[in-house]
Amino acid sequence: MSRPVIVIHGGAGALARQAMSAEKERRYNQALTGIVEQGQAILAAGGSALDAVTEAVRLLEECPLFNAGKGAVFTHQGGHELDASIMDGSMRQAGAVCGVTRIRNPILAARAVMEHSAHVMFTGAGAEAFAFGRGLEQVDPAFFSTAERYEQLQRALADAAGAILDHDVPTAEDPIDPDRKFGTVGAVACDRHGHLAAATSTGGMTNKQTGRVGDSPIIGAGCYADDATAAISCTGSGEVFIRTVAAYDVAAQIAYGGLSLQAAADRVVFDKILALGGSGGLIAVDATGNVALPFNGEGMYRGVGYVGGRPEIGIYR
Ligand code: GLY
Repeated sequence: MSRPVIVIHGGAGALARQAMSAEKERRYNQALTGIVEQGQAILAAGGSALDAVTEAVRLLEECPLFNAGKGAVFTHQGGHELDASIMDGSMRQAGAVCGVTRIRNPILAARAVMEHSAHVMFTGAGAEAFAFGRGLEQVDPAFFSTAERYEQLQRALADAAGAILDHDVPTAEDPIDPDRKFGTVGAVACDRHGHLAAATSTGGMTNKQTGRVGDSPIIGAGCYADDATAAISCTGSGEVFIRTVAAYDVAAQIAYGGLSLQAAADRVVFDKILALGGSGGLIAVDATGNVALPFNGEGMYRGVGYVGGRPEIGIYR
C-alpha cells in the first residue's frame, strides 16, 4: 500500500533563528507551502511521481529565494553555472545537465535528456544546444542574477582578499548559509502506484571556479531513485556528497543491509558526510510513502505533503 507524498528541500546549512526576519520567514514558508501544494495536487490527480518532482523543482527554480534557476549564486567570475538532474525510479532512467548558463529551467533540460536522448548527462554548450533543440526556454544569463546573490559574492571575494568577515554568520537576507553557499533545491515523491522519482537543481557554491561541478547533477551523488529502495535528493557540500556517493548509499544500505529508510538516511548524513568534514542533508522517500529528512546543520528549508494532508513545513532543527 503506497501513500502518495511529495517532499521538497530548498537547501541546508548554518542558520540562526535570530537572523531570520519575520517577513523573510513568512516568505520562505509561503513559498515552500505553495510548492508542496502543487506537488500534492499533481499526485492527487493521479499524476506520476516524476511529474510531481519535475514541477516542484521547476517552481523552486523560479523562486529567487532559493539557489537554483532564478536566484542562483554567482561564480568567482561573476556568472551563473547551473546543474540539475532527475531520476525515474520505475525504470531507473536518469537525465542531467551541468554548467549551463542560459536554460531557464535546468530541471526541464535534465528531464529532456532522460526522455529524448540516449544519454544521461550533457554539459555546457552541448546541453544548451540540446535543450533549445527541444524547445526549452532560453534566457539571458543575467536573468538568474539577484542583488542578494551579488552581495554574497562580494562578501566571499572580500573574505578571500583577507577582509574580516565571518561567513558562518547568517544574515537576515539569507539565514541559511549566506556565504557558505551549499543551497540546492530538490524533490522526491511516491505516487499512487508506488513509483518513485527524485530531482535536484542548483547554482552550486558562491564564488565557485568556472567549471566546478558539485553533486547535484551526478546520479548517485546528489540524486537517485529506485522503486525497490528509495528516491533521494541531497543538499550540502557537494564534493563530500560525491566522495560518499551519498544518494546511492542510502539506497544501497536499504538493498544490501536491510536498513530502514530513516536509518540509512541518518547514517549517510550523520556518519558518512560528517566523517569527511562535509555538511548538509537529504530528503528521501520509499515506495510505501515513508519519508526521511535528516540534516546535520542548523536548518534545512523543507516541506512534506501527503495527498489529502496538510503541508508540513520546516526550516530550523
Ligand atoms: N550541493 C550543491 C553543490 O555542492 O554544488
